[in-house]
Amino acid sequence: MYKLIKAILFQFDAEKVHHFVMNSLSIFYRLPFGHRLLRLMFDSSNEGLGKKVFGLNFKNPIGLAAGFDKNGKYIDELAALGFGFVEVGTVTPRPQAGNDLPRLFRLPKDEAIINRMGFNNDGVDVLIENLKRTKTKDVIIGGNIGKNKDTPNENAIDDYVICFEKLYDYVNYFVINVSSPNTPGLRALQEKEPLKAIINSLMDKRSNYSLQKPILLKIAPDLNESQLDDIIEITKTTALDGLVVSNTTLSRDGLQTPSSDVEAKGNGGLSGKPLLNKSNEVLSYITTRCDKPVIGVGGIHSGNDMIAKFNNGASLVQLYTGFVYEGPSVVKRLKMFAPLR
Ligand code: FNR
Repeated sequence: MYKLIKAILFQFDAEKVHHFVMNSLSIFYRLPFGHRLLRLMFDSSNEGLGKKVFGLNFKNPIGLAAGFDKNGKYIDELAALGFGFVEVGTVTPRPQAGNDLPRLFRLPKDEAIINRMGFNNDGVDVLIENLKRTKTKDVIIGGNIGKNKDTPNENAIDDYVICFEKLYDYVNYFVINVSSPNTPGLRALQEKEPLKAIINSLMDKRSNYSLQKPILLKIAPDLNESQLDDIIEITKTTALDGLVVSNTTLSRDGLQTPSSDVEAKGNGGLSGKPLLNKSNEVLSYITTRCDKPVIGVGGIHSGNDMIAKFNNGASLVQLYTGFVYEGPSVVKRLKMFAPLR
């Protein structure tokens, strides 16, 4: 059924389809019995799948990756599709439009996406209003935080702190995003000193609260070994609670899509199937050297892909592109392969 729907949807602009599908899902959810029907169709049992990670109780280990619900508008709907957790954002202090259109492209031959969205979002205050309206209580919510494009890197800490403090009462965990390839200069913040400064500022702010919410760091799959070693050292020398591995890649290696078609899409981060092995290599490098929990993300489309993440040391997993290519029943299918407690 989804194959047919996908064949039609894929005829249209990817970003417009994203908004159309999510608005339609939301309308369906709000119909009488709509949300129950969605749960019945897509949210299979979570029995035995519950997991405590970072001190949080996840009803199942499968999450929606950041960037899909940037403004936290659809958490109830996404929870009805069976996700154990949803990471909202990346959010920035002030709303921003992101890069020029078009900026989201499918590569169907590779079951991949190239995006250069550039942190388009409605800003942290709107996100909070949406989170206040969320009714579902059994889904863990992560807040993925970033900086505005026009904030210079020297002042980046201020942006992370603003998002962190404003969101503190509304999310269960935080992710520091310094790994998006679509905000100029952002990835420079992955270097040791600026990164430590951001993490330590957030830790400092966190110490003012009675409940210590987990703070994770999301990294790029394109870091070299020495940069990865720096990240590992940071997990040991700061109070960071864990990592998210990984964001999209700048690499275009091994694609089936003709290179002229790929080049025509222009710059941006690549996600989906071609990212699986690369992100797994980084995941394995990290988890064999660091004992903090890691969320594995990148290229999960099937049960085997997910099992590979767990075998490489992931404590939890997330997907984005696999959700687009496999449709809403993907979570139910993945749950059948998820390791029981
Ligand atoms: C993303 N991703 C992302 N990550 C992030 O930390 N903040 C963001 O705002 C976004 N935005 C975003 C937009 C689009 C269109 C895509 C496809 C991806 C990256 C995402 O969370 C994930 O790390 C990668 O996509 C790899 O996972 P998949 O897609 O291969 O499952």
